[in-house]
Amino acid sequence: MHILITGATSGIGYRVAEALLERGHFVYLTTHTEKESQNLREKFKEEKAISIFKLDITNPKDYEKASTLSIDVLICHASLGVGGSLIDLDVTKIKENYDVNVFGNLSFIQKMIPILLARKGRLIVTSSIASIIPIPFLGSYTSTKASLSMLMKVLRMELKLLEKPISVSLIEPGIYNTGFNDVMLDEIAFYSKQHKKKLTKFQRLEKQIFKMMGKDSYKSIVKKFIKAVEASHPRKVYRAPFTSRIFTKIYLLLFG
Ligand SMILES: NC(=O)c1ccc[n+]([C@@H]2O[C@H](COP(=O)([O-])OP(=O)(O)OC[C@H]3O[C@@H](n4cnc5c(N)ncnc54)[C@H](OP(=O)(O)O)[C@@H]3O)[C@@H](O)[C@H]2O)c1
Repeated sequence: MHILITGATSGIGYRVAEALLERGHFVYLTTHTEKESQNLREKFKEEKAISIFKLDITNPKDYEKASTLSIDVLICHASLGVGGSLIDLDVTKIKENYDVNVFGNLSFIQKMIPILLARKGRLIVTSSIASIIPIPFLGSYTSTKASLSMLMKVLRMELKLLEKPISVSLIEPGIYNTGFNDVMLDEIAFYSKQHKKKLTKFQRLEKQIFKMMGKDSYKSIVKKFIKAVEASHPRKVYRAPFTSRIFTKIYLLLFG
């Protein structure tokens, strides 16, 4: 299959791209910046089944190249994490978060729907298990993922109403140690001054929980992407790792 993935410079997306190549697919690996593309082109210079280019999902000019390709599977994986207390996190930062995770993804998907329709393709969108749980200091990020998941659920139903054969699968990862969460958790520097002491204590606890729960190996989630790409009847939602799924259930009972 011909598969385009966004936000695949590093972390989970990069591993998914590698796994897809190993399984004989042609991969359009896209990156946030041109520099990241250049580095990866060098790395993959011997590989024939790959095309690497910059695709900033907030920049409609970058959609042009993608919209000329014949793609069977679109994996919308790019994302921005913004950390901070909702007590006083600058709303401009929250808007930036929505611009990438919600509006960027949706407008790129809209541009690509005609191609997916023509190829009877499938759409895979990376959300997060955090989209269903309220986590202090991650309200901006988790609410973007909740919105994205809901938009995709509605899109799936609308495509069915049109009897259009595009499947829509959500991938909802738990905690993986890619560095993505660390950036968000370290960003929590927007506390209300009067609550600083209490919040800092809680932030430390949160960082410990993320460290304890985080997986160094991405195999479990890469497997879910492969299933979403290759299964004859892909599922609506895939979640991994198992530990995060159990933790989420307990967390929801306590705080949901
Ligand atoms: N790691 C986890 O525990 C976890 C848990 C749940 C969900 N997820 C989701 O899994 C996905 C991958 O995360 P990851 O942990 O592997 O971290 P990551 O490697 O940092 O992945 C995020 C990618 O998105 C790119 N990106 C950001 N803004 C973009 C834009 N406007 N256009 C195109 N690309 C953009 C980033 O590029 P730059 O770095 O150059 O900005 C980066 O390559 C994300 O959707 C994330 O929300 C991760």
